Amino acid sequence: MNPTLNIAIKAARKAGDIILRYHNQIDLLTIENKAANDFVSEVDKAAEDAIIDELKYAFPDHSILGEENGEIVGKDKRFVWILDPLDGTTNYLHGFPQYAVSIALYENNEPTHAVVYDPFKEELFTAVKGEGAYLNEQRIRVTGASGFEDTLIGTGFPFKAPQHLDAYLGMFKAIHPKVAGIRRAGSAALDLAYLAAGRLDGFWEIELNIWDIAAGVLLVKEAGGYVGDFSGRDKYLETGNVVAGTEKVFKEILKTIHPHLTSDLQR
Ligand code: IPD
Ligand code: CA
Ligand code: CA
Repeated sequence: MNPTLNIAIKAARKAGDIILRYHNQIDLLTIENKAANDFVSEVDKAAEDAIIDELKYAFPDHSILGEENGEIVGKDKRFVWILDPLDGTTNYLHGFPQYAVSIALYENNEPTHAVVYDPFKEELFTAVKGEGAYLNEQRIRVTGASGFEDTLIGTGFPFKAPQHLDAYLGMFKAIHPKVAGIRRAGSAALDLAYLAAGRLDGFWEIELNIWDIAAGVLLVKEAGGYVGDFSGRDKYLETGNVVAGTEKVFKEILKTIHPHLTSDLQR
């Protein structure tokens, strides 16, 4: 097993243990609002601290970008770990079991290692660049979907960016009649992992953060899928606007949402 991936898995499992320890005692947690509809609890913070401890011990020179602690610049800026200790906090705080730990390593701005771990379902999604994507050590691939027909598409609502709601609803209305179903499950990291595992055929969302998608995009690519921004190019880590899918579904989503892009979203 890849030693760097092993460290990332160990860190993800430690964070997962913390998340599960409190999942039946949500009432005891202190919940803060970082911004409108953006919550954080001490579980998010403790889980991130556990991941950082593990990574710093193994790779003292690497840089780290975490949702709760921001950037920790290491001696070696080529290697950056990007992590979301709990993706799906709103689900978690409501006892809705769809959330995950997301950890990725980027080398010179390219993803090389990815872990998305759902501690509740004990599902560990991993990828190493050039070595494929796995779910609990079984190889995973995107579906063979060759168009919208019969597909299941994942998405996220722009609840933190309500200025995009009308544009989003236009996209939704355009995609909705063409596919078998659309799901908003509440964890972008898991949405991308599910796409990699063939449980979804496509995905789109507006203005995600880099830590929501840093690991998921490598899972999708290593499972044979496509990822892009709303122009189909590769600026999705910067803009947070993400389209992903099998080659054909990726192209169909891009084509279908295009008429609904405001000038702000054409990037
Ligand atoms: C959120 C989830 C959700 C997405 C939000 C993210 P968080 O992450 O990924 O699916 O729609 O935009 O912020 O806040 O639970 O880590
Ligand atoms: Ca997140
Ligand atoms: Ca989070």
